[in-house]
Amino acid sequence: MIDSLYPREVDFAALDEIRKAALNGLPDDLADFLEGGAGTETTLRANRSAFERRVIRPRPMSGVSAPRTDTTFLGIPLSLPVLTAPFGGDGLFHKDGHLAVARANEAFGTVSIVPEAGTYSFEQVAEAAPKAARIAQLHPFEHFEQGARRIREAGYAALCVTVDCPTAGFRVRNRVNRFDPDMSRFAGNTAGEDTPDVAEMFSRLVAHGAPAWDWTRLAEATAECGLPWIAKGVLTAETAERAIEAGASAVVVSNHGGRQLDPAPASLDALPEVAAAVAGRVPIALDSGVRTGADVFLALALGADVVVLGRLAIYGLAVDGEAGVRRTLELLAEELRTLMILAGVGSLADFRASLVGAR
Ligand SMILES: Cc1cc2nc3c(=O)[nH]c(=O)nc-3n(C[C@H](O)[C@H](O)[C@H](O)COP(=O)(O)O)c2cc1C
Repeated sequence: MIDSLYPREVDFAALDEIRKAALNGLPDDLADFLEGGAGTETTLRANRSAFERRVIRPRPMSGVSAPRTDTTFLGIPLSLPVLTAPFGGDGLFHKDGHLAVARANEAFGTVSIVPEAGTYSFEQVAEAAPKAARIAQLHPFEHFEQGARRIREAGYAALCVTVDCPTAGFRVRNRVNRFDPDMSRFAGNTAGEDTPDVAEMFSRLVAHGAPAWDWTRLAEATAECGLPWIAKGVLTAETAERAIEAGASAVVVSNHGGRQLDPAPASLDALPEVAAAVAGRVPIALDSGVRTGADVFLALALGADVVVLGRLAIYGLAVDGEAGVRRTLELLAEELRTLMILAGVGSLADFRASLVGAR
């Protein structure tokens, strides 16, 4: 006899329970900063509807009972095809910010993309969880070379370059709220000597007219840094091609969670075009709108090698720091494995586009 069909002694039994608890616990303007997108939020909504418009085509009696989810991304081993996104201002959601996210990833066998605009420095996160702090993110601006050098010296395996943010998106909710966060929470990498001033950097990002980089400038800077790099913010075949030409070792199909260009294509809608253009030359990650194990399944089937969790990881962080992110990863993995059994997918190598249909 089992005591109960579903575990009763857990703090959180579902991802949506974590999301609701996270949003309930945050001040309204911070919840808006987290949930909001740019413009009229058509991209933000499209990210969800792109998942909701698709179905997984069932394959009963496949004989699959214990699917495997382990893989590698740029040579980095993963227990689940999941990374956490670079999100700045992490200490606004929980005092331990990306230290907690990386510790949760380390415990789970997944990996953090550690942000430039985070509360803690690249070095502090690497020290807290060296096995998870494998990828560090930079914006392609002044001080890039200096940042890349620090990232290499701190032992990271790869750089993630955000290519879709030459200026911050037009974030209406933050404007209406007169959102005024504690900027020190974005300054983990700018607090030391010989580092740029955070206020100056952000005022330039929000204002227009700061020198914006092109692919040639990025190719020069990344070649000099010597680490493999990932282009984050690819939504078209043309951008994928330019990124690979510039030397990218991977791409992230992403619209920045709907926070930059609006209206822009939903990530999942853009994925088949990008996957066709990339044609297996480099691995593909996808973010923007991933909220469930079903979303992970659909992204993998349509050509992603891994998915990146933005807000989903932040909800976990906000509710309970490291334990909250770990619970998020557990629930996501459990749902993904359930769906792999139901759809007869024994391992990540078995994902293919024919598993997906339209509703
Ligand atoms: C609060 C917040 C802060 C973010 N900060 C950054 C950042 O500093 N650099 C960056 O490249 N992306 C940033 N992002 C975007 C994420 O890396 C990721 O692309 C996005 O959250 C994915 O969409 P999702 O939240 O729907 O999963 C941020 C996202 C959020 C929600």
